[in-house]
Amino acid sequence: MAPKHLPHLLSPARLRFAARRLGQYARLKVREPGLRWWMLTPANPAMTRYVEGLFPPPDPVLAEMERVGAERRFPLVGPEVGRLLHLLALAIGARRVFELGSGFGYSALWLARALPEGGEVHCTDSDPENARLARGFFERAGLGGRLRFHEGDALETLARTPGEFDLVFNDVDKHDYPRALRESAPRLRPGGLYVADNTLWHGRVLGGASDRDTEAVLAHNRALFEDEGSLFSTVLPVRDGLAVGIRRS
Ligand SMILES: C[S@@+](CC[C@H](N)C(=O)[O-])C[C@H]1O[C@@H](n2cnc3c(N)ncnc32)[C@H](O)[C@@H]1O
Repeated sequence: MAPKHLPHLLSPARLRFAARRLGQYARLKVREPGLRWWMLTPANPAMTRYVEGLFPPPDPVLAEMERVGAERRFPLVGPEVGRLLHLLALAIGARRVFELGSGFGYSALWLARALPEGGEVHCTDSDPENARLARGFFERAGLGGRLRFHEGDALETLARTPGEFDLVFNDVDKHDYPRALRESAPRLRPGGLYVADNTLWHGRVLGGASDRDTEAVLAHNRALFEDEGSLFSTVLPVRDGLAVGIRRS
């Protein structure tokens, strides 16, 4: 190995990545043939970089949100999932969207841009600072009129917000995932979509952990397939796993 490559290979980000993956792998209870310690996310980072490299550069508002996200180490869904949310909302002609766990509005902005005139995205977050930032970003994007930001608990807000939704996007704390699915699926119109992020939970679904969040993600993923007459679902191995279900009746 040429010494000039060493600093790159030993960069803090790479060492952190390796330490995290090795730790997860060591905790796995299930060993699959061919599974290696670095394979705990569906796509390897080089593939993700390739796909994201195909996308046109983000507009200034999304770019600024990505910059703020990186600066604060805030877990945004990123452009790959953002584009998929946008595409799904366009595909079903969504007008009314509910988001559980909005942060400062990055995924919500991808969704809002897919809606027709008069469409609305109901955002929820317990942190008032996120609400303030989201309002600013939506105004700058010229979409302030589509944003309904509710500060407070996402599931309580869903319960007191009347009406049906075309799409519900779930990105709350993972221990609430089973409840979020249970309470949002009946709120979808027939043909509406339930979408949930982090359903592969950084590989922990493979049996490496028995903490509360992982147990909840596992229960949520099982529940996705319990009543196919009502919700027909799949899990896409995009980024950290995106579940998509369509309400049938
Ligand atoms: C993963 S971040 C959301 C990121 C966002 N979907 C995006 O990509 O732009 C999760 C956010 O949900 C909020 N949150 C988690 N559980 C919540 C709950 N039960 N009620 C309200 N907000 C919640 C957290 O404050 C955090 O800002």
